[in-house]
Amino acid sequence: MHIGLIMDGNGSWAAKRSLPRAAGHLEGLKVCKRIVKYASQLGIEYLTLYVFSTENWKRPDQEVGYLMNLLAKKLPGEMDFYVQNNIRIRVRGDISSLPEDAQKGIQYTLDKTASCTGTTVVLCINYGGQDEISRAATRCALEKPNAKITVEDISAHLDNPDIPAPDMIARSAGEHRLSNFMLWDSAYAEFLSIEALWPDWDKKEIDLIIEELGKRTRKFGGLAHA
Ligand code: IPE
Ligand code: IPE
Ligand code: MG
Repeated sequence: MHIGLIMDGNGSWAAKRSLPRAAGHLEGLKVCKRIVKYASQLGIEYLTLYVFSTENWKRPDQEVGYLMNLLAKKLPGEMDFYVQNNIRIRVRGDISSLPEDAQKGIQYTLDKTASCTGTTVVLCINYGGQDEISRAATRCALEKPNAKITVEDISAHLDNPDIPAPDMIARSAGEHRLSNFMLWDSAYAEFLSIEALWPDWDKKEIDLIIEELGKRTRKFGGLAHA
């Protein structure tokens, strides 16, 4: 099973408490740990988390800087937890344009968890579905110039082509949009919007996702099987 999560509502969570937006992001990171641990206990194979979009650079420098610092310092500091829980971290997105210390922090987490065999957690960082498709198409065109680029070609050149398409994408904070998340491989994903803000998520939201997925009839363009 592969679940994609659009972790939204950190800023709103902080605003409700008259705290700076950064406090919401810090709480959001704590919740990531809780959710990831529970997902691994449930045996979910893949969990993809939307951490920072290609559009999030539009935010004030201070907020972007805070998020980059979490990636550079806080995330690598939590690696014992991920290793103990046999969780492998991978990345999706173009991290080559991140500040160097953030790139190093991310690389450290990838290396530390490379041999973990439990749940794979894919962190989408400087990720946009459109950007990923455009990078994939560029690589296809370089490999086979003047030839038709097929759907399979693009799929094979996504950032993690070995990871199956998501079964469900869920978004917190009650929003009903993808905001450039997993545009290519969400083609037949189920979608669920959950009211709770990301920092308020707990096991019950994951239970809800799994329960809801169990109720959906997935047809992939064909007919439902009895
Ligand atoms: C999601 O929370 C975290 C990131 C996009 C990094 P937001 O920061 O978007 O929170 P809201 O939408 O302002 O509440
Ligand atoms: C999507 O949330 C990006 C992440 C969760 C990282 P945003 O808060 O950036 O999306 P919009 O702007 O509300 O669509
Ligand atoms: Mg938001």
